[in-house]
Amino acid sequence: MAAESMDKLVALCKRRGFIFQTNEIYGGLQGVYDYGPLGVELKNNLKRAWWNAMVYERDDIEGIDSSILTNPLVLKQSGHEETFSDPLVDCKSCKARIRADHLKDGKCPECGSDDLTDPRPFNLMFKTNVGPIEDGSSFAYLRPETAQQIFTNFKNVIDSTPHHLPFGIAQIGKAFRNEITPRNFIFRVRELEQMEMEFFVRPGEDEKWHKTWTDLRVAWWEKQGINKKSIELLDVPKNELAHYSKATIDIMYKYPHGLEELEGIANRTDFDLGSHTRDQSKLRITAKVDKNTKSNAKLAVQDPETKEWVVPYVIEPAAGVERGVLAVLNEAYRVEELEDGKERTVLSLKPHLSPIKAAVIPLKKNNEDLVNKAKELKNALQSLGLGRVLLENSGNIGKNYRRHDEIGTPICITVDFESLEDGTVTIRDRDTMEQSRLDIASVSDHFKKTIDN
Ligand code: GLY
Repeated sequence: MAAESMDKLVALCKRRGFIFQTNEIYGGLQGVYDYGPLGVELKNNLKRAWWNAMVYERDDIEGIDSSILTNPLVLKQSGHEETFSDPLVDCKSCKARIRADHLKDGKCPECGSDDLTDPRPFNLMFKTNVGPIEDGSSFAYLRPETAQQIFTNFKNVIDSTPHHLPFGIAQIGKAFRNEITPRNFIFRVRELEQMEMEFFVRPGEDEKWHKTWTDLRVAWWEKQGINKKSIELLDVPKNELAHYSKATIDIMYKYPHGLEELEGIANRTDFDLGSHTRDQSKLRITAKVDKNTKSNAKLAVQDPETKEWVVPYVIEPAAGVERGVLAVLNEAYRVEELEDGKERTVLSLKPHLSPIKAAVIPLKKNNEDLVNKAKELKNALQSLGLGRVLLENSGNIGKNYRRHDEIGTPICITVDFESLEDGTVTIRDRDTMEQSRLDIASVSDHFKKTIDN
C-alpha cells in the first residue's frame, strides 16, 4: 500500500522530523528542502545502498567526489549553455511564469487566462561570481549534473587505476537547477542530489550495456522496497531526448502525484568525452561534437589489439536522491485498522533504509536498574555499526510502539523487571506487531538478521 495523497507524506515528514521546508522561519525558499534527524538517516542509508551496489560490490567501478563549482568552458562544450533549458511562458494577466509544458489545456494554471507570451528557452543553470570582481567576467556555474565532472576526470581516473573498458565512475553529490516551477514536495527541486554512474564501453557494445544497466537498476529499486507493479519503463521518444542522448530508458514510478521519472538510463554515446577532447579529427568519434574545445585532453583509450584510439561510449544510470527518498517513503507508507477500531500508521521500510534500526525501551521511565540495563543493550547493538539504535527513556510503551511504527523502526526491545531477574527482553516486530521473549545474549544475532534481511 502507498500513501493516497502527497499531503499525508508531507505531514508525516514534518511531524516526525524527516523533511522540513528550508528557512521556514523566514517564509522558506521555493524548491529547497532540509532533512531532519530522521530524513538525514534515511537519505544516507539510500545513498549507502547505492554506493555499495555500484562501487563496493563490483570490481569495475570507481567512485569520485568532485567540485560543485564548474568552469563555464565545461558546460559550454558539453552543450548545456546552449540547450539546458525549459520553455518559459509569461501569463500577461496574473504575471505568473510557467513552464510551457505545465500549462493546463493551453491556459495559465494560476488564473486560467490564455493571454500568454510565446514560449522562449530559459536556461536552468545557476551562475555565481568567483573571486572579488563582480562584473560578470569571472563566474562559475553550479553544476547542473554531477556527470560532467566525471567526464572531465576520465583521464585522471583511468591513468591512476588499473581499469580497461568496460569500466565505470560513480559519484553522489549536489546539483542545481533553476526550475521554473518547483513542485510536488521534494520531487522537483532547485537544489538536488544525484547518484550518477558513467559506464564506459566499446562503441558497438553500448546497446547491450544499456539493456544490462536498465535491468540492474530496476532490480536495485526492488531491493529498496519498490514494488515492480509501481514501476513502468519508458523508452523516451526521440524528440524528447536530452541533447547528448541516443536513447534513454526512464524508470517511471507511481508517485502520489502521478507516474514520473525516478531514474533515467541514458546512452550518451561518445558525445561527452568527444566534446571535451582536443584534436578530434585524429579519433573515431561518432557523435556530432563541437570541435572548438579549449581543453587540452584526449579522452580516449587505445585498443590493445588494433592500437586505434577510440573514444568510449557511455551508459549513464542517473537517479535523484530526493526522488528515491520520496518513492521509498510512499511505497512503505500504510494505514492499518486495528482490532480495537483504532488505526496505526506504519512505514514498512526495508530495514537497511530505516532511520532508526531498533529502539530499546525501559518499561519504567527513569528507573535506574531498568535504564542501565537498557543502556547496556543499546550500546552493545550500537557498536555493531549497523545504524542508529535509540534509547527511549519516556516510559510509555504503547506510545513508543506507535511512534516507531510510524518512522519505520523494524524492532522495539522492551526491558522490564523480568529482564533484571532472568535476563530476557521483549522483542516487538514492526510489521506483524508480534511480541516474543528473547534472551539478551541472543538479541544481537536477532538484530543483525533483521537488519541484513
Ligand atoms: N546526468 C543526467 C541528468 O542530470 O539528468
